[in-house]
Amino acid sequence: METAKKVIFSGVQPSGNITLGNYLGAIKNWVELQKDYYCNYAIMDLHSITVRQNPKELKKRTLDLLKLYIACGINPDENLLFVQSHVSAHAELAWILNCYTYMGELSRMTQFKDKSKKHSNNINAGLFTYPVLMAADILLYQTDLVPVGVDQLQHIEIARDIAIRFNSIYGDVFKIPEGFIPKTGAKVMSLQDPTKKMSKSDENPKAYISMMDDFDSIAKKIKSAVTDSEGIVAYKEGKDGINNLMGILSSITGESMESIQNRYVGRGYGEFKSEVAEAVVECIRPIRQKFDELSGNNDYLEKIYTESAEKARSVANRTLKKVYKKIGFVV
Ligand code: AMP
Ligand code: TRP
Repeated sequence: METAKKVIFSGVQPSGNITLGNYLGAIKNWVELQKDYYCNYAIMDLHSITVRQNPKELKKRTLDLLKLYIACGINPDENLLFVQSHVSAHAELAWILNCYTYMGELSRMTQFKDKSKKHSNNINAGLFTYPVLMAADILLYQTDLVPVGVDQLQHIEIARDIAIRFNSIYGDVFKIPEGFIPKTGAKVMSLQDPTKKMSKSDENPKAYISMMDDFDSIAKKIKSAVTDSEGIVAYKEGKDGINNLMGILSSITGESMESIQNRYVGRGYGEFKSEVAEAVVECIRPIRQKFDELSGNNDYLEKIYTESAEKARSVANRTLKKVYKKIGFVV
């Protein structure tokens, strides 16, 4: 008997240049999972405006992100690739779920605390209720699995809590989703401060590798990555810089940390960094080639996001209608 494929939902915000962290932590796994799941990959533009965005850039980045999803190997014929704001059910369900989420649980979110510190002149209500919108994204599609980097685990946990709370009042409305974190690459660290996550909004561009960087600067950034003075390539507590570079290499090539360590006995950081730089450049090269091929092909991109949004709307509205009925709205 044929069983229906399980469902994935995930997305990235079009809020900056996509980094190697986004790729290794999230998108690379999406590509691998598409064989076995029915996948919904959205571009989270509603989330991105919790921080001020330049309208022109936001528009460009939204399309660039769609190109990047496809260039990374996600097949638009088999999966839905759409823009979050094109499916109004996301905002509608978010409002409902707001009424089933407590201020206390939202104020414990580390991302909220971090971002309010960073954008202290714009601590808006959207930043606070961000995880509720994310819960709506996930729950609308009766999602089984949410592949993300480790920083998003707390948001998945709250999405589960909200779903369980709602179901306990109204019966089986939402599937309870699970997070999926990759074994390596789940948290790629800053190249300049390897105790911090690599972030596309870092003010120092040497701290992150953008998927759009030219290949020479990628190599330079890796070669100038902060390490330590021990000179031994080994995965060990306290060696954050080297651990990070080993993690990047392992995530790209699939080689274990132990094997990398064994190959580098008696060899220095210079050689090691060159190998990592080359691996990163060769990983990004074919993606960039495909990305460039897609540029100027706006009709094709529009067809993908339009048709995907139409299909997504039909699934999402089914869940929303069920929610309305259960609550007692006249539908
Ligand atoms: P964002 O850039 O916040 O929209 O994140 C999009 C996806 O990339 C999420 O699944 C994040 O968990 C993941 N991600 C972001 N930064 C990193 C990082 N430095 N290492 C691993 N995964 C990351
Ligand atoms: N908050 C996620 C991030 O910044 C992006 C996101 C929004 C997301 N909605 C989602 C990821 C739903 C997975 C599922 O990384």
